[in-house]
Amino acid sequence: MRLDRILSNLAHLNRQTVRQMIAGGRVRVDGNCCRDGRFEVRIFNRVELDDVLVQAGKPARYFMLHKPVGVVSATYHEAHRTVIDLLDEPAKDELHLAGRLDLNTSGLLLITNDGQWSRHVTNPGSRKAKVYLVETENDIAPEYIETFARGLYFAFEDLTTLPAKLEILAPRRARLSLHEGRYHQVKRMFGHFQNKVIGLHRTHIGSLELDPNLAPGQYRQLSAAEVASFAEPEIQG
Ligand code: URA
Repeated sequence: MRLDRILSNLAHLNRQTVRQMIAGGRVRVDGNCCRDGRFEVRIFNRVELDDVLVQAGKPARYFMLHKPVGVVSATYHEAHRTVIDLLDEPAKDELHLAGRLDLNTSGLLLITNDGQWSRHVTNPGSRKAKVYLVETENDIAPEYIETFARGLYFAFEDLTTLPAKLEILAPRRARLSLHEGRYHQVKRMFGHFQNKVIGLHRTHIGSLELDPNLAPGQYRQLSAAEVASFAEPEIQG
């Protein structure tokens, strides 16, 4: 909500008074003087008028989790344990997932209470590279590299996938970098060659790497720099 409206509502002041207070430099947002009444205040901002606290601001929370296989990427599920069940945190009902992984996929998953941030993370326009280690039932032929780089047609969505980079690490093991997240995308891409994915693990989203110190099921807070790494769109090769 706009700063001037917050002040009118919470401090019960009329608009004219609010305008004068803001223009007079009496209002601080997160400790800094704010003279813009149209500033969009978020629930995470601390707002003060002179020495009076108008809004305390909730802490914004950001976590990376090493999702294990067999745990569902949801906040609630009838049959399976969810990734939220793995967190030992207060007010878990305020948290949501910034992206998902299939039940039988492991790896990097982001969880937050900041909807604006998670939209940055998941926004297809940001083109963050998502990197997966893939294990397959059959050998991976070199022709996959060219096919994935060209893009594959997905009839259901009527679209061609964005260029993806495949590195073959072993006959049945590869690293795949995608810049989008279509439904079961990795499995469908290998499915094009009738090659079943038998192991899938996400290691990176953009420049953020799954912390190697986290065992499956463990999580940690993101650092301020890691949170900020999602602020700007980035395109990686
Ligand atoms: N692609 C898949 O097929 N599954 C995932 O969990 C992520 C990407």
